[in-house]
Amino acid sequence: MTDVHRAEPGLDDALTYLRDHADEHLQQLDEFLRIPSVSADPARDADVRRAADWIVQQLTAMGVERAQTHETSAHPIVTGEWLGAGPLAPTVLVYCHYDVQPPDPLDEWIRPPFEPRYEDDRVYARGSGDDKGQLFMHLKAVEAWLRGSGKLPVNLRFFFEGDEEVGSEPVEAFIAAHPELLRADLCVVSDNDMYDDEGTPAITYGLRGIAYFEVRVTGPFQDIHSGQYGGGVANPANVLVKLLASLQDDDGRLTIPGFYDRVRELTDAERAAYAELPFDEEAYRKALGVPKLSDGERGYTLAERLSARPTFDISGLWGGYSGEGAKTIIPAFAAAKFSTRLVPDQDYREIERLVVEHLTRVAPPEVRVAVKVIHGGAPAITPLDHPGVQLAARALEGAFGKAPLFHRSGGSIPVVAALDAGIGVKTVLVGFASPNGNFHAPNEWMPLANYRGGLDALARLWAEMGSVSPDRLRGSA
Ligand code: BES
Ligand code: ZN
Repeated sequence: MTDVHRAEPGLDDALTYLRDHADEHLQQLDEFLRIPSVSADPARDADVRRAADWIVQQLTAMGVERAQTHETSAHPIVTGEWLGAGPLAPTVLVYCHYDVQPPDPLDEWIRPPFEPRYEDDRVYARGSGDDKGQLFMHLKAVEAWLRGSGKLPVNLRFFFEGDEEVGSEPVEAFIAAHPELLRADLCVVSDNDMYDDEGTPAITYGLRGIAYFEVRVTGPFQDIHSGQYGGGVANPANVLVKLLASLQDDDGRLTIPGFYDRVRELTDAERAAYAELPFDEEAYRKALGVPKLSDGERGYTLAERLSARPTFDISGLWGGYSGEGAKTIIPAFAAAKFSTRLVPDQDYREIERLVVEHLTRVAPPEVRVAVKVIHGGAPAITPLDHPGVQLAARALEGAFGKAPLFHRSGGSIPVVAALDAGIGVKTVLVGFASPNGNFHAPNEWMPLANYRGGLDALARLWAEMGSVSPDRLRGSA
């Protein structure tokens, strides 16, 4: 084991800086979380931009060079770099996203989502965990090195996105157009969670991909009386629910031909590792308030189904009458949004094609069915023996006093696979949010213990990564 303290005397200065500036940093976190950077809402475009500008200002103030925003087809991308460690030191790309999910339903928040509340050693706010809180931690860990010790042990580039929550549409084109701004031996992403709320750190070595759709079934030219026309005119809502239900069989598998062709099966070793991970299924059920957990796909454990198997979920369903009382109609249309989560080695573009073809093929002739692809992202997996994984594990253990557990996440972060495919940069995911922290939900929160421990871990991470050669960090030596 490398002695980080001997190799990097600056680490102590960085850690001292973090302690000395803790209050000031929390005030800045507050300021950042107050910006309602909701990427899905066009009315918030100016706020999303304000969040990007806020980051640029932070980066510039701490001595990061060429910090700037870039216009894209959607919201701005922020980049910057600090290359003062020289060509013999590795270069790491840091990615996080500064956009957040819509805060609805607003009336379920105990305090407004953009007025952070500090309680029980937690910070409650939209984006506290996903992902502005974690982005902010990266800013402060870098500031601690640059201000506390005057330099960093690694060269860093920054890549902050404002469209992650809406599918990262601009990312692929940006990577292709600006490889020089992103080139690195490794990418570090913090947009995920720790293992539990007992301070067990985690390294997320896999992410699911996604393909997201909207389907619209159209019938008569307007709503019509269900007594006058029922029995003679197909009901678009009936057709829609039947179509959607037919996408899954009784074993919990998708019925779309070809859907599983590229699914990488879990190896026996992986299944054994999954079985070793602590997972209290009853506590998990209780926390969700469901009477029973779903059986899901037959033949796989809950933990496997949650991250290593594809899924199908309807996110929204509308059409017809949903007001007070009853209204007897055959609605003119019915629609739904749904997604399939994908696993290695499924190709989201192929899945998009298969889903559209399938729905078009099975659509009954009495209605018109239109399927729209909303967004897609590829699944990703980082080999556990990648040197970056081992270095990150040491940094986490140093900060939290416990070795991290290795798990795959069921969520998606499209940039991870896009960086690998575009410029051959692998990613290590170190996350500090809580697995129970209400991502995308009312009363999102981040444990402040994770925030403090995460700052410590990120400061250590740069010492760890600075102790190896670029080739070694890349995994090619
Ligand atoms: N932070 C999440 C992804 C995540 C969730 C990682 C839970 C680990 C644990 C990210 O912000 C997210 O929500 N991504 C979207 C991507 C989609 C819009 C393409 C997702 O997974 O739904
Ligand atoms: Zn999210």
